Amino acid sequence: MNSIEMTATGGAGGVVVEAGGLTKRYEMGRKTIEVLRGASLSVRRGEALAVIGASGAGKSTLLHILGALDHPDEGWVRIGGELVGTLSSRRRAAIRAGVIGFVFQSYHLMPEMDVTENVMLPSMAFNGGLRWKAARRRAAELLEQVGLGGRANHMPFELSGGEQQRVALARALMNDPEVILADEPTGNLDDETGGAVLENLFMLSRDRGRALIVVTHSETVAASCHRRTRLADGVLHAVE
Ligand SMILES: Nc1ncnc2c1ncn2[C@@H]1O[C@H](COP(=O)(O)OP(=O)(O)OP(=O)(O)O)[C@@H](O)[C@H]1O
Ligand SMILES: [Mg+2]
Repeated sequence: MNSIEMTATGGAGGVVVEAGGLTKRYEMGRKTIEVLRGASLSVRRGEALAVIGASGAGKSTLLHILGALDHPDEGWVRIGGELVGTLSSRRRAAIRAGVIGFVFQSYHLMPEMDVTENVMLPSMAFNGGLRWKAARRRAAELLEQVGLGGRANHMPFELSGGEQQRVALARALMNDPEVILADEPTGNLDDETGGAVLENLFMLSRDRGRALIVVTHSETVAASCHRRTRLADGVLHAVE
């Protein structure tokens, strides 16, 4: 698979991420929790959408489904015009590695790899990725951008929560993804550091046409996005 095939060109009107009728249930013993009950959304190139909602509302669940990391019980997701649910697992993995940049709420850094190797990881998982030397260079640039230039050879356990969060962000941007899904990307950052991280994300969205979906509890972050949507009772409601 080459890098041209991996470009998500988007559907009608520049829509890059689209989902409809998403439902998701979890069985907990005899109890069933219905987390999503028909959630739908669409995001265009260059657009930033904030997803807000109470703790436990299902925001991370939704983001995992949009990022092809989890399957819905019903409903569909289209990334760059392709219906994710109908793809082979190989193609789905290729989209995850090449088109989507995912910032996990709990970072998920590899504990046995240093900071630079963690950032380089997506390029190793992606056939169209950079060669080792170029990947190291890009990882160094990204770490610089998130203010961690001096920590390139540290191990994750040597970093604070907010520093690990910024490594996770740099990693998500490694393959210059068309779609960036960020789960509370500034949750552990002070206002100034968080502001700089967000400015970086908004710049990518604005200047490079990336579609950005940010789950956030911060009103400031939500206000900086083009649109806001609230997840409540399993569905998404537009917020004015
Ligand atoms: N693997 C799982 N098994 C069972 N229940 C789950 C699982 N994952 C999530 N849930 C439940 O689904 C609900 C939604 O969880 P989710 O993590 O999506 O919420 P959230 O909106 O991201 O919350 P927060 O703002 O606290 O991160 C919660 O009640 C949670 O307990
Ligand atoms: Mg969450």
